[in-house]
Amino acid sequence: MPDRILVVDDEEAIREIVCAILAAAGYSWKQASSGMEALAVLNSGETFELMLSDLMMADLDGIGLLERTKERFPDMPVVMVTAVHDISVALAAIRNGAYDYLLKPFEREQLLNAVGRALENRRLKVENRTYQTNLEALVRARTDELRAAMADLERSYDTTLETLGDALDLKDAETGAHTRRVTAFTIAIARAMGVPREQILVIARGAFLHDIGKMAIPDNILRKPGKLDEKEKEIMREHCYHGYQMLKKIPFLAEACDIVYSHQEHFDGSGYPRGLKRAEIPLGARIFSVADTLDAIISDRPYRPARTLNEARKEIGAWTGRQFDPEVVEAFMKMPDDIFEDLRREINDQAYPLSYSASAKGN
Ligand SMILES: [Fe+2]
Repeated sequence: MPDRILVVDDEEAIREIVCAILAAAGYSWKQASSGMEALAVLNSGETFELMLSDLMMADLDGIGLLERTKERFPDMPVVMVTAVHDISVALAAIRNGAYDYLLKPFEREQLLNAVGRALENRRLKVENRTYQTNLEALVRARTDELRAAMADLERSYDTTLETLGDALDLKDAETGAHTRRVTAFTIAIARAMGVPREQILVIARGAFLHDIGKMAIPDNILRKPGKLDEKEKEIMREHCYHGYQMLKKIPFLAEACDIVYSHQEHFDGSGYPRGLKRAEIPLGARIFSVADTLDAIISDRPYRPARTLNEARKEIGAWTGRQFDPEVVEAFMKMPDDIFEDLRREINDQAYPLSYSASAKGN
């Protein structure tokens, strides 16, 4: 397709000469005998790669035509054609966005050089923009792919974590679906407190893996039916640190492992293993602490039956500021009962073969 050039001049003789030169050089052209006619041609939807316009014309001059077309046709360069005495006006036209000007009278070569330069410049501009647009689209597509891959990776990580949690359930039959319920309660309270989604994901992983360090506790202590003696208690308490050690090497769990390390801390500093206080305890661990106690109270235990949610609220309320962070307790107290009841029912009803086999051992 030859480049199309709109030739605007009120002198027919000049239009004819210009168009003859352009045609001989392989361009296609259209003539307009005034600024208004050129405007009408452009408004009709015809497109041109270049406009060659006389500067001095009766109704709408070259500058006026340029004014009215440059924004709508930014990819159509305009070359002004003018007599020598208009040179300052020609420069003004360039300042206004004309690409170049051509002095009358001109030689064939001068005309073709000016046309060639303007078209080449246009081609580069359009190419560059296409490249930019393609590049942006490419970067966007790659970013989306990367994000999807990361999400996939994160999902497979979570699946691995679940397997890890399930393995602990097999070893420590007391927990059963406890881990899943505590995780769900922790998430629910974090949501009620307005914790951002990203942070909730971290907190959930920490809650889910909180007791993973029990893998390192000898079975005779972990599964001892009666009460633990002081020495055994001490060993048992090391599970927080073991869990932290196990997980801290995994970059993906860097934040979650802090929750694991701190899940037995008390708000007033009376917990273990480090005796952390208040904000020294990660928020996730402070939320977990309430969720964990809640689940312990409302679940059946070998030595006592489950108590009601109302009793759990009373008990947790009594320990606010001591074991529990008052802000977490406040958020928890405002949450309706059915949130916890629904979550508990959902999790207990889940077909969950590993926890079933664990409890089927009757431990
Ligand atoms: Fe624990």
